Amino acid sequence: MSLYGMFAGKGPSGFGYSSTAEEVTAGLDLTGKRYLVTGSNSGIGQETVRVLGLRGATIVTLARTAEKATEGVKGFAGTFVPVACELSEPASVRAAVQTVLAQGERLDGILCNAGIMALPKLEQKHGYELQFLTNHLGHFILVTGLMDQLKADGRLVMLSSAAHRNAPSVGIEFDNLAGQRSYSAWGNYGQAKLANLLVARELARRWHDTGRVANAVHPGVIQTNLGRHMGSVISAVMGAFGPLFLKSIPQGAATQTWALVHPDAAKVRGEYLADCNVAQSSTAGRDMNLAERLWTESERIVAGL
Ligand SMILES: NC(=O)c1ccc[n+]([C@@H]2O[C@H](COP(=O)([O-])OP(=O)(O)OC[C@H]3O[C@@H](n4cnc5c(N)ncnc54)[C@H](OP(=O)(O)O)[C@@H]3O)[C@@H](O)[C@H]2O)c1
Repeated sequence: MSLYGMFAGKGPSGFGYSSTAEEVTAGLDLTGKRYLVTGSNSGIGQETVRVLGLRGATIVTLARTAEKATEGVKGFAGTFVPVACELSEPASVRAAVQTVLAQGERLDGILCNAGIMALPKLEQKHGYELQFLTNHLGHFILVTGLMDQLKADGRLVMLSSAAHRNAPSVGIEFDNLAGQRSYSAWGNYGQAKLANLLVARELARRWHDTGRVANAVHPGVIQTNLGRHMGSVISAVMGAFGPLFLKSIPQGAATQTWALVHPDAAKVRGEYLADCNVAQSSTAGRDMNLAERLWTESERIVAGL
């Protein structure tokens, strides 16, 4: 356990910083439930998939390739349905949507977990900055395509991050979505993670009189493959000292797993969650005008992709 974890308490949910995905699902039988998870082959997404399988669920595992989606769950208990989904390629995301729709089974939950972080230099694809395209637009195509597949009491969980606070002061720079005017590794990651948060808020608003809920998650700070762009010195320091002050992967997977399956989370709507409890986002992260504008702009953008 990390030093912080030794002293961190639990919140109103009964869980907290140190809770693990196994602990938040203890005693739950997810037999007959079906979940879809992006980024299923690595890090906290893979741990969530492992634990959902352990509790009896069927998981549609999305990864960049079918091989990765299959390899990522090797040796895990449970039923897995691997599907290729390269989030930065709209055609791949749309093909994944068609595959999942053709399976014909309704989903109990969708976990938009995949992501890339802090690309050191501006990278563009299809005319958009790559983190915005991958983390936000790719998931936007996926979620809007699968919305009708979600059960009447289904849940959507979006991976945001405390780093959403690093977004530009206006929140989302709609006039700079290719990063053409300015780019920063953390600012643009923050913008994409703010977009993930706002999508959860907006969907929760749209679903307010239904049984469906949508929430966003900051999972904590966890050493995973996400830091691959951070450089070898930082990675070495993280490798040496990380265990002292970071969450473990089982702890990092807890909040999203709790939001996706725990009975107490069924009535939590449009919240930003951290350590398995409701937390406070930035002001921009609560701006429902911004959320609505992002939704409208995203619809327009993906129609052209
Ligand atoms: N780790 C942290 O401290 C932290 C903190 C806050 C938020 N988060 C968020 O948590 C989520 C999971 O991150 P992690 O820490 O578990 O990182 P990770 O180990 O790097 O896992 C990220 C996953 O996303 C997938 N992915 C990346 N680009 C993709 C693309 N273009 N198409 C499809 N899949 C793609 C990766 O696939 P490949 O393996 O093929 O690259 C991988 O499966 C991310 O959304 C991240 O922003 C993490």
